Amino acid sequence: MLPQRSDFPEGFVFGAATAAYQIEGSAFGGAGPSHWDTFAATPGNIADHSSGARACEHYRLWEADLDLMRDAGFDAYRFSTSWARVMPDGRILNPEGLDFYDRLLDGMLARGLKPFLTLYHWDLPAALADRGGWANRDIAAWFADYARAVHARLGDRLASTATLNEPWCIAWLSHFLGHHAPGLCDIRAAARAMHHVLLAHGTAMQALRAEGARDLGIVLNFETAHPADDSPEAMASTARQDAIYNQWFIRALTGQGYPDAALEGIGPHLPAGWQADMATIAAPLDWLGVNYYTRKLHGHAPGLWPNDEASDGPLPKTQMGWEIRPEGLSEFLTRLARDHVGNLPVYVTENGMALEAGADIAEDATRVAFIGAHLRAARAALDQGVNLRGFFYWSLLDNYEWAFGYGPRFGLVHVDYKTMKRTPKSSWHAFRAMLG
Ligand code: NOJ
Repeated sequence: MLPQRSDFPEGFVFGAATAAYQIEGSAFGGAGPSHWDTFAATPGNIADHSSGARACEHYRLWEADLDLMRDAGFDAYRFSTSWARVMPDGRILNPEGLDFYDRLLDGMLARGLKPFLTLYHWDLPAALADRGGWANRDIAAWFADYARAVHARLGDRLASTATLNEPWCIAWLSHFLGHHAPGLCDIRAAARAMHHVLLAHGTAMQALRAEGARDLGIVLNFETAHPADDSPEAMASTARQDAIYNQWFIRALTGQGYPDAALEGIGPHLPAGWQADMATIAAPLDWLGVNYYTRKLHGHAPGLWPNDEASDGPLPKTQMGWEIRPEGLSEFLTRLARDHVGNLPVYVTENGMALEAGADIAEDATRVAFIGAHLRAARAALDQGVNLRGFFYWSLLDNYEWAFGYGPRFGLVHVDYKTMKRTPKSSWHAFRAMLG
C-alpha cells in the first residue's frame, strides 16, 4: 500500500524520472554518437550486448508516454536532454534535436506536468569524448555552452534544471571502476574527472545565472557504506568509500572542501591549481536532488588504493542484487540537512527497484511495497525537519539499464522491446489511486 497524498505537505511534488539515452533511441532524429554508443559497441561492456540505439523508442512514442505520466496523476516529469542529440558533433546545434525537446516540453505543459530538466544524464558526444571528455578541463566551457543553448530554447518553460546527474557515476564509476563509458580504470583520469565534473557544474551555473535562469540544482547519488566486519581495515575502507561516494561532491558544492579520506588517494592526481576552482564549484544552489537505492558492505582489498572490496549484505534484494533498506533514505536526508545543506530545498530525484517480469507482466506487488516503504522513509525525514519538496520514482518505463542492458526492469510501466507496447503495472495503478 502507498501512503496517501494527504500524508505529505501541500505542494509536495510527485513525479517519475527517465533519461534520454535510456528511453529515446539514439538512432532517431539526427543525434550524433555519444560515448555510450561507442562504449556499448565494444564487446564485453554490456551484459546483453545491447545499446540505446532503439531503447523504448520514446523519440517516436513520447506523446503516449506523457499520457501515462498524466494518467498516473503525477505533478512533474524528470527527463533529460541528450547532449549528443542537441549537439551531434559536440559543437553545432541540431535543430531537429531541439525541436523534439520543444515539442516534449509543450506536451508536458499541455498535460499539467511540471518539467524537471536534467542537462547531463551521461550521453556525452563521442566527438568530445575523443578530445578527453571529462578528463579534459575544457569540458567546463563545452558544458556551459551546451547548457546555455538548451536554456535559450527551453528555459522559458522549465520548472527546474539540474546540471548533472550522479557525478560519482560520471567520474568514478566510469574512469576508475571502468563500468560505464568511457570504461577507464585510471586513477589519474578519474581524479581529473572528479574535479572537472564539479567545475563544469559550477561554470554552467554561472552561465545559466547570467541568462536569468532560476531553480538550478544538481542531482547526487548516495549509497550507505557499512563495514563488512569490525576490523580496523574494514572501518578504514568504509570511511574512504563514504568520502569518495557520499562526501566528495556535496562538500565541494557547499564550500566545505574535498574530504581528507578521499584526497589521500585522489589528491596527487588532481590538476595543478585545483584549489582556485573551489569557489566556482560552490556556486549557491537553489535545490539539491538525492538519488537513493541501497547500501553496500565494505571490506579490505589488498593492492590499489582505496583498498575497497564491496559486497552485498543479507537483506532482501532487488533484481539488481541491491539490498532493500528504506531507512537509508531518511538517514541520508537528515544527514545532508544536518551536515551540508541546512534548510535548502531537497528532492528525492530517484528511488526505485528493478524486478523481473513474472507470468503476469502487470503484477508487481513487491514494487508497490518497496515504494510504500521509501515514501514512508521520506515522510520520516519531513518529520525530522528536512525541507523535502518532492519524490520522483525511477523510472516511468522499463528501459536501458546501462551496462546491464535491457534485463533489469525498473518501470512502473512494462515495455515489450519487440513491439514497444507499454503495459502499466500495479505500481502505476497504485500511484494513480494515490494521486489521481
Ligand atoms: C541511477 C541513474 O541515474 C539511472 O540512470 C539508473 O538507471 C538508475 N540509477 C538505476 O540504476
